[in-house]
Amino acid sequence: MLDRLEPQSPDALLALIKLHAADERSDKIDLGVGVYRTKDGDTPVFRAIKAAERRLVEKQSSKSYLGPEGDMGFVHALMPYVFGDDAVYGERIEGMQTPGGTGAVRLAVALAQRGGVEAVHLGIPSWPNHAQILADIGMETRTFSHARDDGTADIEAVLEVIAKATAKEAILLHACCHNPTGIDYTNDEWDRIADALSRSEVFPIIDSAYQGLGRGMEEDAYGLRRVLDKVEEAMIAYSCDKNFGMYRDRVGALYVMAKESAQLDTVMSNLNALARASWSMPPDHGAAAVREILSDPELSKDWLAEVEEMRERMREVRGILADAGEVGSLDLAPLGEQNGLFSVLPLDKDQIARLRSEHGIYMAGSGRINVAGLTRGNIDKFIGALADVAS
Ligand code: LMR
Repeated sequence: MLDRLEPQSPDALLALIKLHAADERSDKIDLGVGVYRTKDGDTPVFRAIKAAERRLVEKQSSKSYLGPEGDMGFVHALMPYVFGDDAVYGERIEGMQTPGGTGAVRLAVALAQRGGVEAVHLGIPSWPNHAQILADIGMETRTFSHARDDGTADIEAVLEVIAKATAKEAILLHACCHNPTGIDYTNDEWDRIADALSRSEVFPIIDSAYQGLGRGMEEDAYGLRRVLDKVEEAMIAYSCDKNFGMYRDRVGALYVMAKESAQLDTVMSNLNALARASWSMPPDHGAAAVREILSDPELSKDWLAEVEEMRERMREVRGILADAGEVGSLDLAPLGEQNGLFSVLPLDKDQIARLRSEHGIYMAGSGRINVAGLTRGNIDKFIGALADVAS
């Protein structure tokens, strides 16, 4: 049997981690995989997480199984941040813990498939794993344009898809800090999307993987909350991997909003069955640490302050890039308006290869950069290298 397998190329984004590690140049720059870095280039464990972990070591009395739904204290403690304190639809929402945002997206698509969805509309470019998850589950992907060349979102494209889609289709939207472009819908555009969804039968799935890293915790939730205000049913795939710095601990949740609360038992029974067959139960530690933070006002305050520091640093880097303006044939000005860790530079394969080989600068093959990889110490070198390859 094994000789019938075709070799698979490694995930291109994850492969960059190893390529960068193997480069011996001391001034190399990693703009690849999406992890936050401080002004010194580190990705430290959050202070609030360290404190929560110390408490867990003291208090946790058992590591016995919880169940496919994971830590429901974590799932519920997160809800006010995602949905707002006064969300009127609250009783129509239930959730479960998942292994990272990836687990949540996978479960959302699998549940949609059980519910008769045959195709998912995906704005492109998107996080490459979205298409991989859809393909692996056997869900048809239909694409539309997410962004225009001028660096704004292609609102007409998404509205057209929503207007034409049927009840056998879903649409996957990024809540904020669009990966890879950093180009989010404006609040007015979200209002139009929410109105369009209220008139459409298409099922909304919203991926929220970067809340707090764009404009603010509340600001970054605007779009998903507007959509939930207007539609009867939706799913939210949520990741804490970035905004709690939990990457390898895999902390996420999937929330489902049903038409009526009475439907939630059936929904959850399906999610439990899907999770049990996929990973049985999500890993506990990271979600337990997040629960510990969210159930303590002091730790929550410190966590929010850390998220703010991250957001402000990324805005500072974006400001420096935007101020550089035209660099060779590139215009960096739009990066100042974009959000989160990522932006895409219109570089071709040769230019990206030259940045790597001649300058030790690592970025995704799509031209996506992780702006958090830039610091005051390396940003001039980066801009100079861009001027060199894009002259
Ligand atoms: C990224 O896009 O770099 C992150 O979301 C990490 C990942 O899993 O791809």
